[in-house]
Amino acid sequence: MDVNEIVGRYTPLANDTCCLSCGGAVDKSEVKPGEVCVDLGSGRGTDVLRLAEQVGEKGFVYGIDVTDEMIRKATSTAAKMGVENVKFIQADLEEIPLPEETANLIISNCTLNHVTNKRKVWSEIYRILKNGGRFVISDIYSSEPVPERICQRSGSSGRVLGWFGYP
Ligand SMILES: C[S@@+](CC[C@H](N)C(=O)[O-])C[C@H]1O[C@@H](n2cnc3c(N)ncnc32)[C@H](O)[C@@H]1O
Repeated sequence: MDVNEIVGRYTPLANDTCCLSCGGAVDKSEVKPGEVCVDLGSGRGTDVLRLAEQVGEKGFVYGIDVTDEMIRKATSTAAKMGVENVKFIQADLEEIPLPEETANLIISNCTLNHVTNKRKVWSEIYRILKNGGRFVISDIYSSEPVPERICQRSGSSGRVLGWFGYP
């Protein structure tokens, strides 16, 4: 999806109570105290805050999201909860503003299906992962072409077009 389309879709959802995620990447991530983690498409920051508790005060968690309103919501929730070992950064996942070999763990929950240039995001993931680091993803994936009538529905909750061939 085009970035403007993403921002248009997710800005109103930043202060909604509806569920945004589609899986349990954090539950599968085996995060350890002291680790540096990155959440790609962090939304309201729920998974970042869970990871922050698990990495403890010696660890750190970055949340990356392209929608300003999501960053604002997540930052304000972290401040209200007094969580200091997190930072939310507004950016497109195709250009992640973190140095190479930053993360022990990268997670993504129901976000990469939206990305237009998935190959570019995979290379960003590889660039910012430390040697021996882990990437845990929960997302939607279609192993068969999605019928055109579904692709054309503006209300479809996930766009899987362009996802084929990158399991
Ligand atoms: C379905 S929500 C999931 C949010 C969160 N991971 C969760 O599970 O609650 C997708 C999020 O990804 C963000 N997003 C989508 N495409 C993005 C991109 N190319 N770069 C950065 N963020 C993106 C949206 O702004 C939105 O907050």
